[in-house]
Amino acid sequence: MKNVSISLKKMVLRLRIGKSLSREDLAALLESGGENADFLRCQADALRQEVMGNRVHLRGLIEFSNHCERNCLYCGLRRGNTSLERYRLSGEEVFQVARTAVTLGYQTVVLQSGEDSQVSADDLARIVRRLKRELDLAVTLCVGERDYEEYALWRREGADRYLLKHETADPAIYRRLHPDMIWNRRTQRLAWLRKLGYQVGSGCMVGLPGQDAWSLAGDLIFLRTLDVEMAGIGPFVPHPATPLGNTPGGDVEMTLNAVALSRLLLPQVHLPATTALGSIHPRGRQMALQAGANVVMPNLTPKPYRRLYEIYPDKICLDDDPSHCRQCIQGIITSLGRRVADDPGHSPKLVFHKAMP
Ligand code: 5AD
Ligand code: SF4
Ligand code: FES
Repeated sequence: MKNVSISLKKMVLRLRIGKSLSREDLAALLESGGENADFLRCQADALRQEVMGNRVHLRGLIEFSNHCERNCLYCGLRRGNTSLERYRLSGEEVFQVARTAVTLGYQTVVLQSGEDSQVSADDLARIVRRLKRELDLAVTLCVGERDYEEYALWRREGADRYLLKHETADPAIYRRLHPDMIWNRRTQRLAWLRKLGYQVGSGCMVGLPGQDAWSLAGDLIFLRTLDVEMAGIGPFVPHPATPLGNTPGGDVEMTLNAVALSRLLLPQVHLPATTALGSIHPRGRQMALQAGANVVMPNLTPKPYRRLYEIYPDKICLDDDPSHCRQCIQGIITSLGRRVADDPGHSPKLVFHKAMP
């Protein structure tokens, strides 16, 4: 890599030793291409190996309801999309899917849905309790903005982690894309989740309309400030049945740079190679796993429902069943010289705290 620019190399190496960078520098790194980008991603990959090791964690994703009361401009589940057929799994169905997950070797499931108030806090609490007691799974929830008491109840039932992406930390873009949501409510909830002792995940999309490298650098700084345990970063993929159907989607290169920089800024973070990236590039997930990512979230949603969870179009794995995806992912991971992790993959920060006297 003889053509790597000296100033870029300096910036990356500063991050590598835990020093901070200005927002301008982060924006410049996000825009790097060619051998500069290779260098950035290689350094992130090396840091991932050093801090998180060779193992890739699998999280089984159960998309249990595609009902959503929000109207985010980018998302196919928005309430304004009346052409989408809606479904909601029963508690028993979720449990059966999770049981299959256990037989396939999963130790974590992620329960995800749109913002669906018809799923009561008690309903979800009962599901969490069963998954913990009967299957001993690590449970991650991703059901959007709810009240403090609801988050607290699920935590008491044993929910381990919560994903609430911030989507964009740019106030003007946030306002434009979320007609019925308020930025301060989002950050308030992220603070609650932290206070309740969840392992907290957040994250953003790359390539949202109006977002440039400077704006995206703000997202990375936001994630670092929150000191999240998990960060999901994927490209925006335009959905034809939304108001953003005709806008360009996020860029593969910029997304990979954002993944790499997240690793450098948050060495211990769990970083998924997102399905969205795998959906816009045939090697998207592989490339992310070689740019700092250490997690994959294969889909466990039962087949008839799978294609109805259409956040964005052309999602991968729509016709594949959970055991096929499990094999496929295993193949991808071993082809990269990596191994599937054999533990539930709690945050190393937490494991460290637990080990303290
Ligand atoms: N492209 C990519 N990701 C999307 N999401 C929603 N809509 C899209 C889209 N069009 C992501 C958001 C949200 C999650 C449910 O899916 O980040 O948090
Ligand atoms: Fe609903 Fe989430 Fe989609 Fe927004 S991004 S419309 S809250 S499912
Ligand atoms: Fe589903 Fe490869 S992960 S087919």
